[in-house]
Amino acid sequence: MGGYRSLLSLFSLCLVLFLGLAFIPVPGVQAWSKEGHVMTCRIAQKLLEPEAAHAVQMLLPDYVDGDLSALCVWPDQIRHWYRYRWTSSLHFIDTPDQACTFDYQRDCHDPHGGKDMCVAGAIQNFTSQLSHYREGTSDRRYNMTEALLFLSHFMGDIHQPMHVGFTSDEGGNSINLRWFRHKSNLHHVWDREIILTAAADYYEKDMDQLQQDIEGNFTDGLWYDDVASWKDCDNIFNCVNKFAAESISLACKWGYEGVEPGETLSDSYFNSRMPVVMKRIAQGGVRLSMILNRAFGHSRGDGVAAT
Ligand SMILES: *[C@@H]1O[C@H](CO)[C@@H](O)[C@H](O)[C@H]1NC(C)=O
Ligand SMILES: *[C@@H]1O[C@H](CO)[C@@H](O)[C@H](O)[C@H]1NC(C)=O
Ligand SMILES: *[C@@H]1O[C@H](CO)[C@@H](O)[C@H](O)[C@H]1NC(C)=O
Repeated sequence: MGGYRSLLSLFSLCLVLFLGLAFIPVPGVQAWSKEGHVMTCRIAQKLLEPEAAHAVQMLLPDYVDGDLSALCVWPDQIRHWYRYRWTSSLHFIDTPDQACTFDYQRDCHDPHGGKDMCVAGAIQNFTSQLSHYREGTSDRRYNMTEALLFLSHFMGDIHQPMHVGFTSDEGGNSINLRWFRHKSNLHHVWDREIILTAAADYYEKDMDQLQQDIEGNFTDGLWYDDVASWKDCDNIFNCVNKFAAESISLACKWGYEGVEPGETLSDSYFNSRMPVVMKRIAQGGVRLSMILNRAFGHSRGDGVAAT
């Protein structure tokens, strides 16, 4: 009898353990491209001045405990919901095949020609919405929390070179190939594969270490002398044009360059492109903090938050 009972309690112990574990989030399962967005937002949030830091804190829902990066992938999670279908063209820009240039009037629209409906238009839109936050107006047209999350996400997207890509291959999405031994596509290589391979090869998969290395490279390393120029831009329209033009230029020079559909990309592609990816994450973070500092802060004379 005793044996049966202890077997029973062992069984219930296992059951409790199993149920308990089932509710612990599994860190390995993540939405695609999450890592790049999380790093961009963490870098940005650490560079916020007190006013902007406070505004961000106020706008975030309590359950993220002040961590902007926890919601930086939200726009990817909701883009296919009916209510948010209007946002799906705001993640990217399609430019004419082989042109390797960005022209706002020509390129910033959705497939039906809806003006401004691209990542460059979205950044202007949500920056402008947030710049009204300080006035404390109860402008019910805008949800400032959503504006913050969209802006933070789209600042990541506009810096990912393949998010400003050619029209016919959907920014590399339809260029299927292999990344080392597994199937992937060119867009995904830039969204995620390069970041994960870098983390695995050099940082024992520790994303915090990778992020610290990126930060070290602009606080006193590799990019130290460039950081001030990253923030050069007199108004938000000029800023987004610059970011998008840089991306398509990098997409042509490093993304598409020499890539044939169906081929296998490995060490030489990885080694030469990884520095580009890391710099774009750094730039996205630094520039997101600049835009938030100007939108929420006193230094509005520089016009970045101009509406
Ligand atoms: C700007 O945001 C509003 C919602 O706040 C939306 O209706 C509009 O389509 C957005 N436009 C762009 C270009 O993002
Ligand atoms: C703003 O949007 C968030 C996220 O969609 C939502 O949870 C919140 O209730 C909205 N706030 C208002 C005032 O509508
Ligand atoms: C940081 O810079 C060093 C060279 O100074 C480089 O080897 C390293 O890959 C860089 N790390 C990142 C994440 O950019």
